[in-house]
Amino acid sequence: MTTGTSSLGLPMTVPAEGLPGRVRIYEVGARDGLQNEKAVVPVEVKAEFIRRLAATGLGTIEATSFVHPKWVPQLADAEQLYPEVADLPVELPVLVPNERGLDRALALGARRVAVFASATESFAKANLNRTVDEALAMFEPVVARAKAQQVGVRGYLSMCFGDPWEGPVPVPQVVKVCRALLDMGCDELSLGDTIGVATPGHVQALLTALREAGVPVSVIGVHFHDTYGQALSNTLTALQQGVTTVDSSAGGLGGCPYAKSATGNLATEDLVWMLQGLGIDTGVDLGRLVATSVWMAAHLGRPSPSRTVRALSHQEQ
Ligand code: HMG
Ligand code: MG
Repeated sequence: MTTGTSSLGLPMTVPAEGLPGRVRIYEVGARDGLQNEKAVVPVEVKAEFIRRLAATGLGTIEATSFVHPKWVPQLADAEQLYPEVADLPVELPVLVPNERGLDRALALGARRVAVFASATESFAKANLNRTVDEALAMFEPVVARAKAQQVGVRGYLSMCFGDPWEGPVPVPQVVKVCRALLDMGCDELSLGDTIGVATPGHVQALLTALREAGVPVSVIGVHFHDTYGQALSNTLTALQQGVTTVDSSAGGLGGCPYAKSATGNLATEDLVWMLQGLGIDTGVDLGRLVATSVWMAAHLGRPSPSRTVRALSHQEQ
């Protein structure tokens, strides 16, 4: 057992059994975080944010979305932003809802894209102006064309646990859409708790059902919003079930403009603190990450909601 102290800005390290040796953090702050800001963050600030995130050791940083600019005006500068960061030595996935979005992303040399489905009809309509099946049909040529060019494809699935219009979402309904995304060729899945209502037993139930449906845990990522403070417990549960990809956002930025009651994602700093305490390798420099979120909070004009950022930066609340 190795130990450190929190006064040095690091947790004591005490490993626990039954957890992976390494976790891939899939950073979504620049996309999921900034898409939900009332004010549009200037493109130079976004580019600097992504550069700073890359310098912390994060290997996967979702950069932006090639969606309709009227639907998400905060990310309407995707064409200006992407070339500013394209040379960074990290994975820079981008969201694409349809072939128009894919064309825009490919024109800039994107090598990783993500489509984003919904487990519920209400959110499919609100977010994509489609039924669940129509949205899947919209993604099919996107995935096929991306794969034909060896571009990696992630399939997000929103509302995997609860939906603000429909309430609890039945597990088999979620498994069905996960299967459809994998069958169309997605390389990985991200299970979205869009409004943060999941609790650990529910996470375990969904992961068990996916395993029973033949979905390998190696393709599953988890994406927890932290509305009810459950994101970290849910993440630990997922790690205990063999998941090794975790989505989070620096400083806990985030939400979804088309889902009322969606708040920020699990904060990357809170995740790194826990993983480091468990002795799980992430490759991330926590001090630099906190400094990045403090810098971003100053641009946004309010402190980060992350407990770890607050503790390590001694921000006045
Ligand atoms: P629509 O209005 O049905 O679009 O929106 P359409 O297909 O009827 O096309 C209408 C016009 O939009 C056409 O132009 C298209 O060319 C244009 P016109 O011919 O009329 O001049 N258009 C586009 N322009 C630029 N880029 C495009 C594009 N597509 C069409 N990609 C659409 C359908 C999918 C476009 C729209 O609903 C949309 O953009 N939705 C995106 C919503 C979004 O980004 N939500 C947030 C991300 S999801 C999320 O946050 C959840 C997640 O974090 C996981 C979780 O937490 O659960 C991932
Ligand atoms: Mg999200």
